[in-house]
Amino acid sequence: MSNLPLSSPLSDSNECHGYLPRHVAVIMDGNGRWAQKKNMPRLWGHFRGLGAVTTTIKAAIEMGIEVLTLYAFSEENWGRPTREIQGIFSLLERYIIKEKDNLNDKNVRLKVIGNLEKIPVSAFKKVKQVEEQLSENSGLILNIALSYSGRNDILKACTELARSAVEGQLSVDDISPAVFEKFLSTKDLPDPDLLIRTSGERRVSNFLLWQLAYAELYFVDILWPDFNQAYFASAIENFSKRCRRFGLVSEKV
Ligand code: FPP
Repeated sequence: MSNLPLSSPLSDSNECHGYLPRHVAVIMDGNGRWAQKKNMPRLWGHFRGLGAVTTTIKAAIEMGIEVLTLYAFSEENWGRPTREIQGIFSLLERYIIKEKDNLNDKNVRLKVIGNLEKIPVSAFKKVKQVEEQLSENSGLILNIALSYSGRNDILKACTELARSAVEGQLSVDDISPAVFEKFLSTKDLPDPDLLIRTSGERRVSNFLLWQLAYAELYFVDILWPDFNQAYFASAIENFSKRCRRFGLVSEKV
């Protein structure tokens, strides 16, 4: 989906300033390092990272963000030790159950993207159950990327697109970016306007590769469990001061 026009102007708007992102995507990085610095097991860092998840959801709601996508588990993360993987999915499952009513009270809709066939059955069932329970809500869309790979998202879209063409539902000449996007896992969402990554790493790590084409990138050195409302507000403020041209010249935006 196109990012233009952006959603709502902030107070001191001018040509390049003053817009809120509609969609914020976050690479929540640094849980393991946070724990290791404290001589604690990595799983403790993941547990404490859940506090930052709650804070970020609250901040996004209060700032009027439409979509918040959290990169919770990548396809590459399957290469981690089994105990850590089991621990992460156990934390996820318990978090979703614990926060379900709170998210509902806040009118949050849950969406989950990624290769969900690979995740533990129990976590899959809980996530799908809560996704269904919150499906009528109309506030913030909380989009959780689980077992997600940007390349596989694109590859799957290509496969489905090819199948549609072979089956005659689509003419090859009609393929365009807008048609292609309908086959991506994010088909109902606007593209991210802003990508935040914590922990000082400056990579996109196979996250939303197509969708981030025109996102503004914001890197912060803080480790994820220490991320809070003030850091989120700083990222939004920084975004609002950037001049986005989408390949045009300023006068045309
Ligand atoms: C990044 O830290 C964090 C993760 C890979 C997993 C975080 C996900 C959860 C705890 C599940 C719950 C999520 C939600 C949205 C409810 P890292 O381990 O890569 O840190 P490091 O780079 O310091 O090793």
